[in-house]
Amino acid sequence: MEHDDTRLQFDDAGNLRHLLSLKGLEAALITELLDSAESYLTPPGSLPARNQALAGRTVGNLFFEPSTRTRASFDLAGRRLGADVLNLDVNTSSRKKGESILDTIYTLEAMQVDVMVVRDASDGVPAYIARHVEDHVSILNAGESEISHPTQGLLDLLTIRQHKSDFENMAVAIVGDIQHSRVAMSASEALQTMGVGELRLISPPALAPDADRFPGARIVDNLADGLKDADVVMALRIQRERIGNLDGVPGIDEYFANYGVSHESMKQAKPDAIVMHPGPMNRGIEIEGSLADGPRSVITKQVTNGVAVRMAVLERIGRAMSSA
Ligand code: CP
Repeated sequence: MEHDDTRLQFDDAGNLRHLLSLKGLEAALITELLDSAESYLTPPGSLPARNQALAGRTVGNLFFEPSTRTRASFDLAGRRLGADVLNLDVNTSSRKKGESILDTIYTLEAMQVDVMVVRDASDGVPAYIARHVEDHVSILNAGESEISHPTQGLLDLLTIRQHKSDFENMAVAIVGDIQHSRVAMSASEALQTMGVGELRLISPPALAPDADRFPGARIVDNLADGLKDADVVMALRIQRERIGNLDGVPGIDEYFANYGVSHESMKQAKPDAIVMHPGPMNRGIEIEGSLADGPRSVITKQVTNGVAVRMAVLERIGRAMSSA
């Protein structure tokens, strides 16, 4: 993300117009978005929060990569704010006939789609689109290659904040395929902005990131060392779709034995440490199934928070549209 791309996220009045990355977002804005998301949470079993903040607006979901959580939660978030929501079925769209991504975007723009939620496997696509749309259109990054997944980063922060009040005195351990993880990247950017005490990135050497992509983090290849006294443990899956050559990547049994987040390996973490996973999970590979379902797990809370965070982001974008 270039500096210009960070600025691209804001309009001339300093309002958030696009959400492309958490890099460059100030702690105060992240806190405001988390507080807003918190206000959209209602007790389990009660009706979800609703308002008309986006009434009359249209949100288009354009997912050029598979998704369950992000796509469904943007869909629900838009509807719960009163917007019309268009879920473009990419597999039956004219992109399959060779239409360029910009022509698809211009087509939706002509149908008065105001907010486009974009997931793509290539670097730079959300910012590229943001540079080409009309001034009244907003682009939200719903997952970009191994680069960025900003709303996931926000929902992860919200979940951590609900359980651990003080980022500065916290050790967060992220375990798995860090090298190919946009989730790790966005979580790291936001945690660093919020002044996290310690961030450890644990992976086999073949899946370790370049240190300069994660300034301030400690890169570790031994799971027990990385989990020692951690307050938060986040497991990540191996992103096989982004790995050209699996040489050096441990097989399933070896991976689970050495890098699996399990009841056994969690003995290294603090007794009250929480267990997170962005999903989709591969049980028995990066995480033990009964741990994911157990009392230390906050994985379903992450999903619930995902809807609230996307409502907060959409509401914020809508506010900027109204003031334009
Ligand atoms: N965490 C996440 O992005 O999940 P989906 O791929 O299901 O959207």
